[in-house]
Amino acid sequence: MGFQATTSPRRAVRWAARAACAAMALAGLAAPAQAQEAPVPAAVQQAAREIATELATHCPLAPAGDTAAYNACRKALFGPSALRAHLPEILLWGRQSKTPNATLRQTNLTQFAPDVWTNMYVPLFMFNGRHTVEWVPEERMFLVRLEAAFRNRLAPGQFPYPFWHDEAKWATYENANAVMLWLNPENRQVRAAQFTDRAATPLLQPVTPVQHAKYEGPWLWTDEKGNTQPAVTLFDGVYQADNPFIKSIDRQYRDLALQLRESQCVNCHVPSNPDKMTRLVLLSTPAHAAGEVDRLIKAVREDRMPMDEFRLSYALSPENKKWLLESAEAFKTTVRAAQAWEQQAARKTVSGVQSSLNPVEVIK
Ligand code: HEC
Repeated sequence: MGFQATTSPRRAVRWAARAACAAMALAGLAAPAQAQEAPVPAAVQQAAREIATELATHCPLAPAGDTAAYNACRKALFGPSALRAHLPEILLWGRQSKTPNATLRQTNLTQFAPDVWTNMYVPLFMFNGRHTVEWVPEERMFLVRLEAAFRNRLAPGQFPYPFWHDEAKWATYENANAVMLWLNPENRQVRAAQFTDRAATPLLQPVTPVQHAKYEGPWLWTDEKGNTQPAVTLFDGVYQADNPFIKSIDRQYRDLALQLRESQCVNCHVPSNPDKMTRLVLLSTPAHAAGEVDRLIKAVREDRMPMDEFRLSYALSPENKKWLLESAEAFKTTVRAAQAWEQQAARKTVSGVQSSLNPVEVIK
């Protein structure tokens, strides 16, 4: 496969010029008239190449409605992947800002635990391995641009929530041509990731748009067969179908959701982002809540959540606090049991005869 790693000459020169200027200043010398081009450090190039190769291997171009290809990609990335090895505890994800030259700080993004992002967000893209790496002095981070295409023709339950609740967001997803990873220069972790339809590289394949009716929720629903949707938010496709804890995750999330409603959490922590949070936290599905459950319990215990309309924290009534914490703890116990079951099943498969399944990483 023809993977390619190039550095934008303009950015690289600028970076080199700054680095050279700083060095000259330290040495008490005048800045050179012509800067030498400095390469992106080998370790950064290598991290980018590993991630890009993995993405192209497990998530190659396929028809935009190919659920089997999507699930193969999800299993690979959700497991102990190279990508995952570069993720911090919380990463930021979202669209590239429409405002030209907006910094990440000025861009609205959503906070995700690695489990959430690798299960339901990054696998929605397909990759060819081609990428560039550049230093962006304004962000003090390396930017890896991966050529990408979006799986816009999957069934609604294959998306973490109906992205078409916002037409502009859906259009950007549908026409995406790149995924951008912002790497921390110190540890090469992905601090933020974005998708864009404005990359310089062309669309990887023709896009047949899907028109969805305007959507305003609910963010969790039951289909005509009686199954909870979106299915991906109950780990469908990444957990084994016979995981005995899936049903109770569903049931206990619904209990928790009642308490989240009772305690006003849903006024803010939903995809429509009514509070216009610049760093949105989602609690609106089982998978999203599972990724946040430790922070949820801590924030409520410490009376930091909920907040009022002026974003001032207030304490819940003792009963509401107790019920919310109890349902969150019950939900968490089941989520952990489901994870432990997957880990065991993966171990059996690895030591057993047939090992076509990907081991699923388990947290604690
Ligand atoms: C008025 C809007 C609002 C309400 C209501 C609200 N939150 Fe938040 N929540 C926020 C904001 C704003 C942040 C900060 C996001 C950030 O990091 O910028 C936040 C952050 C969080 C976080 C992650 C960061 C942390 O502090 O650990 C969790 C978990 C959370 N909220 C849970 C809850 C729960 C549970 C409830 C209901 C009991 C709730 N929130 C109610 C606005 C709200």
